[in-house]
Amino acid sequence: MPKYKIAWMPGDGVGNDVMEAARIVLDAMKFDAEYVPADIGWKFWCEEGDPLPQRTIDLLKETHCALFGAITSKPRDEANDELAPELKNKGLVYFSPIVKLRQMFNLHTNLRPCRAYPGNPLNYRDDVDLVVFRENTEGMYGGVEWFPLPEKIYEAMCDNPKMVKWKDKGLENVALSTRIMSKQGCESIVRQAFEFAKTHGRKSVTLVEKPNVLRETGGLITRVAREVAKDYPSIPLWEANIDAICMWMIKNPQDYDVLVAENMFGDIISDLCAGLVGGLGFASAANIGDEYAVFEPTHGSAPKYDGMYKVNPMAMLLTVKLMFDWLGEDDLAKRLDDAVAHVIREKKVGTYDVGLSNTTLEVAEEIARHASTPAGVGA
Ligand code: IPM
Ligand code: MG
Repeated sequence: MPKYKIAWMPGDGVGNDVMEAARIVLDAMKFDAEYVPADIGWKFWCEEGDPLPQRTIDLLKETHCALFGAITSKPRDEANDELAPELKNKGLVYFSPIVKLRQMFNLHTNLRPCRAYPGNPLNYRDDVDLVVFRENTEGMYGGVEWFPLPEKIYEAMCDNPKMVKWKDKGLENVALSTRIMSKQGCESIVRQAFEFAKTHGRKSVTLVEKPNVLRETGGLITRVAREVAKDYPSIPLWEANIDAICMWMIKNPQDYDVLVAENMFGDIISDLCAGLVGGLGFASAANIGDEYAVFEPTHGSAPKYDGMYKVNPMAMLLTVKLMFDWLGEDDLAKRLDDAVAHVIREKKVGTYDVGLSNTTLEVAEEIARHASTPAGVGA
């Protein structure tokens, strides 16, 4: 029996292309796994009214972790238009399957490394090496929202006098999304950021927030971070506002190291960081819980490139590297990382985004060739 059982979820669009690329590399590296295909994505929304069918959730529970390509999401009206005729106007509402997976499997940590590999022509600077720890289930992604605003919610919120003014607009005109954060959620993400910094010899941890305006939620995570930081006296905690750090990241990204943020600010800052190291073609990500993890590159399904084998597979392959890390397969992780770094440095084989003209699969084959050589030999 293979050592691992991996749920295999190409999803939509170029998710298929990059997962095929991943398979080339996994097979070349002789990763000891069985891959179980799982249904997820737009097709299942259109045909069944559910982009994440229950059978997929059941299947995931039988696996060690999941590899996920990409997902397509469309606005409400378009989503309804594309439903099978018999499912239309039944009140079905599209939701993002990745957000649902994070909630269902309590994948509380989103890990997003952004490193400038030497030789990448798209590097903003060559000395950027950031790791984002994004809280992945709370905050504005908790899904506690209303439109229109129900009277009883309004009444309850009037406990806070600042609420009163919204009544004048008419509650039927008022939408409410919430940002709910727990002390436990804050503490867990901050501690993981510090632990990572400690284990990997990183020089600082920066909390990305906005506590001067979001006084309660931002205040909570700031207090918690200061408390946690006391356990790591050799690693300074820096505090930056989300707006200011967007500017500082463009000005001096090399000064930053590990970043930690609640869900929405982590979403924003991780795309910015990806932009500094070559864009979404290089941005890997891991959704990690206590017992399960879903590995999905930061990029989306890029429908216009669907099936063209044009997009850069490196984000997906670096995501596979994160899976190896999580599984404790350190040798495989290192070999894959080295192989990606080697192919970038050589500048001989690459996709259109780096100014070369190879296909997704050709790049994967080149990386596979280097990754299949045991560490320290050749490559
Ligand atoms: C990400 C994406 C998702 C998010 C979307 C697709 C729901 O932007 O993984 O960063 O907002 O978390
Ligand atoms: Mg995002």
